[in-house]
Amino acid sequence: MSPLEKVILDKSTNINPIWIMRQAGRYLPEFREIRKANPDFIKLCLNEKLSTEITLQPLMRFDLDAAIIFSDILMLPYGLSQKVEFKKGIGPILGDLNLKNISNLSEKDFVEKVNPVYKLINLVKNNEITKNKSTLGFVGAPWTLLVYMINQKSPKLGLKKNFFDDQNLIDKTLVIIEKFLKIHIKNQINSGAQIIQIFDSWAGLLENNDLYKYIYEPTSNLVEYIKSLNVPVICFPRGIKKYKNFCEAVKPSAICIDYEVDPKEIERTIKIPVQGGLDPKILLSDKENLKKETKKYLDIFKDHPYIFNLGHGILPKTKPSMMDYLVKLVKDY
Ligand code: CP3
Repeated sequence: MSPLEKVILDKSTNINPIWIMRQAGRYLPEFREIRKANPDFIKLCLNEKLSTEITLQPLMRFDLDAAIIFSDILMLPYGLSQKVEFKKGIGPILGDLNLKNISNLSEKDFVEKVNPVYKLINLVKNNEITKNKSTLGFVGAPWTLLVYMINQKSPKLGLKKNFFDDQNLIDKTLVIIEKFLKIHIKNQINSGAQIIQIFDSWAGLLENNDLYKYIYEPTSNLVEYIKSLNVPVICFPRGIKKYKNFCEAVKPSAICIDYEVDPKEIERTIKIPVQGGLDPKILLSDKENLKKETKKYLDIFKDHPYIFNLGHGILPKTKPSMMDYLVKLVKDY
């Protein structure tokens, strides 16, 4: 069993495996070099040779316990033939959502479009460097994907005023998202993904009354599906605040927490394995502060199955030397 599986399945508390969200990304000069030569982000994700190289870059430098595939949650709308572009300084921009087109799309059409993702997983899984480590696949949660597909840009730039107006569009799109997420997950697992993480980056946007319909119900369907394939699933409902209610409703194998929740309260109230929490901004401060904050999380979770990670993706401004120091702190704890 890999260290992550020991924590998630065996509930081990005597090890502290570590991986970092966005560990393959812009804080690494070797990533920026490849990225500069490949301005089309989706094309880069779909180049299995380069995306494998990028996935493995952080593992060549640091003693991490998992490889998360270099891909994107927006591969799903891309596979559904909705246009997806990344604009520098703005982020993702999506084309118009055409319900008729996505309703008529077949599994074969979808799989053909995103097939390099599965080849990439296979290459990562079979690389010597991931032996005894976990190969992580991932998807966006139905709610977060619905947000991008209907809003057509990051809600950071504002949510459309009429976002909830067309209930028919919302309901039908959610069903289609769920159907193709299952296909995408199944193919990732068949290609070698050993754990799946579900990113619900915009869970924090919803009012309490809407949580059941948009988050608990569709996400628990996916969790049940992944568990039925005998694969552990980690959920990251960023900003949800009520993590305990989420865990009770959705029943993931492990829960990833953001940096705004109190880790002590999480430790006290949540019984399943926990991942993450440290504020990525701490990595922009100094080593002494990083040591203090890292120790805080490790101390709080010392008798709880815990996977070290951040409370959101590593920031592009992070110095690789700080990442190196963090990994060593966790390993030497
Ligand atoms: O974690 C990893 O190392 C694996 C790779 C990964 C990426 N995206 C690569 C990427 C993962 C797990 C994601 C998930 C993802 N993508 C999420 C959920 C996590 C989160 O951040 O909340 C979301 C919301 C997206 C959609 C998306 N893709 C956004 C908002 C952006 C940022 C755009 C920007 O300009 O900052 C991306 C682009 C993206 N995905 C990058 C990477 C490394 C940056 C690409 C670049 O410009 O070089």
